Amino acid sequence: MTAAQYLKKTEKQRFKDLFTFLSFPSVSAKSEHKKDIKACAEWLRDHMKAIGFKARTMPTGGHPVVYAEYTVDKKLPTVLYYGHYDVQPPEPLELWKSPPFKPQIRSGYIYARGSCDDKGQTFAHVKGLEAILKTTGTLPVNVKFLIEGEEETHSANLPRFIRKNKKMFKADVIVVSDTSQFAKDLPGVTFGLRGIASVEVFVYGPDKDLHSGGFGGAVGNPVNILCQMVGQLHDKNGKVAIPGFYKDVAPISAWVRRQFKRLPYSEAKYKKSVGVAALHGEKGYTTYERVGSRPTCDVNGIKGGYQGEGAKTIIPSMASCKITMRLVPNQDPVDICNKTERYLKKIAPKSVKVKVDKHGGARAVEVPTDGPWLEAAARAIKAGFGKEPVFMKEGGSIPIVGDFKAILGLDALLIGFGQQDDNIHSPNERFRVVDFERGCRTAAVLPAELLKAKAE
Ligand code: BES
Ligand code: MN
Ligand code: MN
Repeated sequence: MTAAQYLKKTEKQRFKDLFTFLSFPSVSAKSEHKKDIKACAEWLRDHMKAIGFKARTMPTGGHPVVYAEYTVDKKLPTVLYYGHYDVQPPEPLELWKSPPFKPQIRSGYIYARGSCDDKGQTFAHVKGLEAILKTTGTLPVNVKFLIEGEEETHSANLPRFIRKNKKMFKADVIVVSDTSQFAKDLPGVTFGLRGIASVEVFVYGPDKDLHSGGFGGAVGNPVNILCQMVGQLHDKNGKVAIPGFYKDVAPISAWVRRQFKRLPYSEAKYKKSVGVAALHGEKGYTTYERVGSRPTCDVNGIKGGYQGEGAKTIIPSMASCKITMRLVPNQDPVDICNKTERYLKKIAPKSVKVKVDKHGGARAVEVPTDGPWLEAAARAIKAGFGKEPVFMKEGGSIPIVGDFKAILGLDALLIGFGQQDDNIHSPNERFRVVDFERGCRTAAVLPAELLKAKAE
């Protein structure tokens, strides 16, 4: 039996296992889910053990990682797979057509939080390798898995953990499936991801809420003022107005521009898929350039004052918001956080106190677009998807990818199985059944292709 036949034969069980994995509410952002995270990691560990891996969970100081390995022969190349089993908070729950942690298949899609980001994609590799193991009794290469539980909260503890266990992660190449395909039925290899810098801004006014009639007009309103400050984050051309923000920004190279031009990109389709009447962004750049190659600044959430039913006439005593900036090569997240803090404090009126919590972030990454590993990945994708992949850039961030390069000296193969419209971080997250299947088939071919690459 071939691995592909095994995947077909075990289809029912494979989906059952995926659904079990998806049913853990492994939300890393919320402390109330600590137990669920742990249970999820332990289930994954046991599942990998059952397949034949040596697997364990390991403490990191934050949520545990699942580490698994299968060593065939020290002389063979070693492939390190990275993925994350933690997920984004599912709220707002009322917008889900089926509960986020009760996976359901509808019209060819698996719906569940984490189905695409990143449990489903990671699981495709697990099941692809299972298929090779069960049909050949071994693997073509040595395999290590690092599946973490804190990616959605910045992978704060992982770099230290990897530095401490450097030997454990010795490998020849890293494989990450936590991105997307370029479009439906057009797979891609991602060669660049944006970085990220995060801050949380607190604006303090009066030491308690005040009657907005009794005091309004005389006391600075933190919500009004925060909104004014947020309004000054961009200029009228959509450029970020923080002084020095663009200082280190690398210009878009001619090669990248050419590459982008070759991609079958439709702004009209894009507009439709996000449900807006018009797109919005930095003047002078195309939409794909704006997302792939330009830095941004966005408020992720804002709060302050009365949100409940009916009226409450107050001047709130405080307001706050969470801001993230997407970074491109050469921008330093710490520097960007500092510049943001300086700017916000400068533009704030004396009537309020401003505190900025700087959470740092991750640098943008770019990985090679040639070489034997990449060709091997392309061949595996061709086998799994029936189509050559295109080269693409993505706007999201996978913080650890830059650390892998810095600590282990290894680039990652970023081969995404998801779609741009899989609703990651949003209600009704989904993963196409055929994409999961193609992902599993790609994963079942990839190790042999990587072995060939090493021999080249
Ligand atoms: N899988 C995403 C990253 C991603 C999204 C890559 C879209 C390509 C396209 C990842 O799980 C993610 O969401 N990362 C966070 C990192 C942050 C919390 C530090 C992100 O990009 O917001
Ligand atoms: Mn992800
Ligand atoms: Mn994510």
